[in-house]
Amino acid sequence: MSQGTLLITGGAGYIGSHTVRHLLEQNERVVVLDNLVFGHRAALPLDRVTFIEGDMADAALVEKLFAEHKPEAVLHFAAFAYVGESVANPLKYYRNNLAAPLTLLETMQRHGCKRFILSSTCASYGDPVRIPIDESHPQAPVNPYGASKWMLERVLRDCDTAWGLKSVFLRYFNASGSHPSGEIGEDHNPETHLIPLVLQAAAGQREHITIFGTDYPTPDGTCIRDYIHVCDLASAHALALKFLREGGDTIAVNLGTGRGFSVKEVIATAEAVTGRKIPVVFGPRRAGDPSELVADPSRAMEILRWQAAHLEPREHIDSAWRWMNGAQRGHYAD
Ligand SMILES: NC(=O)c1ccc[n+]([C@@H]2O[C@H](COP(=O)([O-])OP(=O)(O)OC[C@H]3O[C@@H](n4cnc5c(N)ncnc54)[C@H](O)[C@@H]3O)[C@@H](O)[C@H]2O)c1
Repeated sequence: MSQGTLLITGGAGYIGSHTVRHLLEQNERVVVLDNLVFGHRAALPLDRVTFIEGDMADAALVEKLFAEHKPEAVLHFAAFAYVGESVANPLKYYRNNLAAPLTLLETMQRHGCKRFILSSTCASYGDPVRIPIDESHPQAPVNPYGASKWMLERVLRDCDTAWGLKSVFLRYFNASGSHPSGEIGEDHNPETHLIPLVLQAAAGQREHITIFGTDYPTPDGTCIRDYIHVCDLASAHALALKFLREGGDTIAVNLGTGRGFSVKEVIATAEAVTGRKIPVVFGPRRAGDPSELVADPSRAMEILRWQAAHLEPREHIDSAWRWMNGAQRGHYAD
């Protein structure tokens, strides 16, 4: 049921734009704030959302937004998310992922807005000490990207103590797939995620896909990840919002399927879906890549009543391939 207006930061990005669609289908009123550093105006139905192009660190702009739209809750997607870049340039990540949201939080406090949904990450756990990973797993991030999210979780808990801000930290595993319409999808530049890279290789947009490491302690020697469909992430946000509206307390929730698939399995599935041979090059392991990351999603089921609907990588790849073969050919015009 729709209540107040929702502020979606980073709503023109990959996961944000899918969530915007889902919330509109639920008759929610949505304001998107995105500086379009990585997002795309074309990912938004501009006739149905209020889109404000700007930076969340712009205090005057955010104040004006809150004064005009009086958002009831904030769904916070805006962040930088390149792990390697975060190691090379940590301050860029702490500035945008940790410092910039403080402006947002100060404005929320002034306006009495007390609901927050954070796009957090399995990278906040660091190297897993057990699989599957539940929310009580130690958080020991091994790169500034994961640390920036982990620190923001801490900031949000302190805001709860001080002024009653209630947050859901949604710790996503590997987001993948596209909206079934094929109208929106994943368009990152540069792209670092496995499924779009594999499909770009299948489409001849890149020469090959590199597998980093074939000597991991996994059945086929390649890394195992838990792929969560972007539409399942979107539905989890709506349920997290419901949870907060019903008086839910601050909580961390994993979003994954609980099933892991190796890099080689993903490539074989992509070959089956596309009917094309995908050229593969074998490279060395990358520093900081754990061999296996798989979620225990039981808390999301218990607390949010959420369950992933797309369990098979085939479905993820199928929808992503539809996006790549749709009118936009996997890339927005803007
Ligand atoms: N994609 C994944 O697998 C994954 C996994 C775990 C967590 N996450 C988190 O989910 C969120 C969304 O990821 P995504 O893949 O959709 O990324 P994305 O880059 O597609 O979307 C992020 C959006 O935020 C915007 N943005 C960044 N900084 C901003 C700022 N200062 N002000 C206003 N807008 C700003 C960008 O322009 C972009 O549209 C991020 O917070 C990311 O860390 C993603």
